[in-house]
Amino acid sequence: NVGNSTNIAWHECPVGKHERQKLLKQKGCVIWITGLSGSGKSTLACALSRELHMLGCLSYVLDGDNVRHGLNKDLGFKAEDRSENIRRIGEVAKLFADAGVICIASLISPYRVDRDACRAMMPYSTFIEVFMDIPLEICESRDAKGLYKLARSGKIKGFTGIDDPYEPPFESEILIAPIDGVCPSPVSMAKQVISYLDEKG
Ligand code: PPS
Repeated sequence: NVGNSTNIAWHECPVGKHERQKLLKQKGCVIWITGLSGSGKSTLACALSRELHMLGCLSYVLDGDNVRHGLNKDLGFKAEDRSENIRRIGEVAKLFADAGVICIASLISPYRVDRDACRAMMPYSTFIEVFMDIPLEICESRDAKGLYKLARSGKIKGFTGIDDPYEPPFESEILIAPIDGVCPSPVSMAKQVISYLDEKG
C-alpha cells in the first residue's frame, strides 16, 4: 500500500537510468534553489539553464510560480499548501533526474522539513541545495512584483519573510550571498553552481 493507493505494483522498465545517462552523456540531478521572494531564484535558474545549454547539457527549470499555473493551481500559500507544493515539485524533479535531466527547481520552499523530505526521496547525492542567502532588506528593496509593499500594508497575509517564516538550510551544498554588499551577477551565480557540478563529476 502507498498512501491511499492499494493493490498496486512497481513496474521496472527495461531501459534503465544508466542507459539514459549514457545516451545523454550526463547524469541527472536536482538543483534545488531556495530563498525569499526577490532573492534571485528564478534569475539564477534561467542563467544556469542557459549556461548548461551552451555547454551541451540538457536541463529543465521547474519554477514555483510557473508550476502553480498548472499542476499546482489548486494550492495556495497556507503551510499545508506550501508543503504539498514542495512535495509535488520534489516528486516531479526526481522523475526528471531519473530521466537524466539536470532539473533546476526554483521555489521559496520555506520550511526545512519539506526540503529535507525532498532530499530524502532521491538517490544519494542527487539533491543539490542552493541557498540564496540574500538579506530581506535587499529582497524587499527590489520588490519587482510589488508584493512586499502589499504584505507590509496587510493586503497580503502570510507573506514569506514578513508574517510567514523562512527557515534557512543548516548546510546547503551551495550558498549564494552578497560579497561586500554586492550581489553576484546571474552569470557568476550560474558559474558557481557549474563549478560545483564539475567538482562532483
Ligand atoms: S512556496 O512557498 O515554495 O510554496 O512558494 P512558491 O511556489 O515558490 O511561490 C512563490 C511565489 O508566489 C508569489 N506569492 C507569495 N510568495 C510568498 N508568500 C506569499 N504569501 C505569496 N503570495 C504570492 C510570489 O510572487 C513568489 O514568487 P518569487 O519568485 O519567489 O518572488
